[in-house]
Amino acid sequence: MARVIWFALLILTSICLYFYKPFDTLPFSISTFPKKGKELVSPDALNLLQIHTNYAAAAYCSKQNLSSWTCGYRCFGNVTIEKIFHDEIKGAYGYIAVSEENKTIIVAFRGSADVVNWIYNLQFAQLDYEFPGIEGALVHGGFYHAYERVKGTILWTIQWLMTREENSCRGYDLVITGHSLGGALSSFLAIDVKRYILDPILSSPTHCLLPFKIHLTTIGQPRIGNHIYAKIIQTQLISQTSPLKHKVTRITHRNDLVVHLPPSKRGFVHHAHELWVKNKDQSFFCDDIVEGSEDPVEDPECLAGARWYTPGAHLSIWNTTFTFFC
Ligand SMILES: *[C@@H]1O[C@H](CO)[C@@H](O)[C@H](O)[C@H]1NC(C)=O
Ligand SMILES: *[C@@H]1O[C@H](CO)[C@@H](O)[C@H](O)[C@H]1NC(C)=O
Ligand SMILES: *[C@@H]1O[C@H](CO)[C@@H](O)[C@H](O)[C@H]1NC(C)=O
Ligand SMILES: *[C@@H]1O[C@H](CO)[C@@H](O)[C@H](O)[C@H]1NC(C)=O
Repeated sequence: MARVIWFALLILTSICLYFYKPFDTLPFSISTFPKKGKELVSPDALNLLQIHTNYAAAAYCSKQNLSSWTCGYRCFGNVTIEKIFHDEIKGAYGYIAVSEENKTIIVAFRGSADVVNWIYNLQFAQLDYEFPGIEGALVHGGFYHAYERVKGTILWTIQWLMTREENSCRGYDLVITGHSLGGALSSFLAIDVKRYILDPILSSPTHCLLPFKIHLTTIGQPRIGNHIYAKIIQTQLISQTSPLKHKVTRITHRNDLVVHLPPSKRGFVHHAHELWVKNKDQSFFCDDIVEGSEDPVEDPECLAGARWYTPGAHLSIWNTTFTFFC
């Protein structure tokens, strides 16, 4: 009897190994997923997001490599580092830089080597997120506390860059980007920049348009808060069409486990504008806004509906890898 079971197991394993192609195709993707015939994202749109992704990957590099902007393909272009921030206690790390050639201010946050540990062990409990006129927003306590420790420095530096005489009134874009945990911190910053820097400038009668437009690009971010928090991202950044049109893109890769965490049954929900990278050649914009409502829902035709996690999907995307080796 035992021999029969072993034999059956052996056959089953062989069949599985035969059909499992680790990094090329997803096991469930036998050309039918996603089903609704989503359109592929155009190469031009991808190009910009791939640049943002490399900025996020550069945040994994050492202070030495960053300050001279030498970290291989991640540090491309003519970029001047203005500030490297590092909080030794909660671990937030990243940089603020300016690209004069593309009129862009860049803020990039790195993730953490043990992100799953982070999500579960450090203040998993949600805390109240304070926002004027909105009640009931909750966010992951550990993520927010890490952000709080660098918030002042970063906002101050951005404000200073914006008001530097040579920069004012020249319409800089602000790219806020981060991988994994860094994506969570990026979202807090994007809301704060709008609230504390951009809105006051725009409401002053003497402002010169355009101060800047925010691109929030996160890669492989975990869930950050509840649906009311997701809705704040929606109303503050995504639905804003006048006078500036901000851009929010939540890039997800294959079936990255981290994007499923913390679990939605604990009340966490992702904010909108997921861009799902199924593989190097196929990326899709997802449907994560319910028509006529500001409530984001995760698109079951994108990562949320995928089964069987893909190992390694969290640490690389397109041609970019997120490692501490630069
Ligand atoms: C990072 O910096 C080190 C020392 O400054 C240098 O040797 C190395 O080449 C840099 N890495 C890259 C990819 O440029
Ligand atoms: C500026 O934008 C161009 C075109 O998108 C790109 O090729 C270049 O690498 C960018 N430079 C920087 C520093 O981001
Ligand atoms: C890089 O940008 C700085 C600031 O705009 C400029 O002074 C410098 O000449 C540029 N370097 C190159 C190689 O283009
Ligand atoms: C990725 O690398 C491959 C092979 O080196 C190259 O053909 C492709 O254009 C690269 N893609 C991007 C987005 O850089």
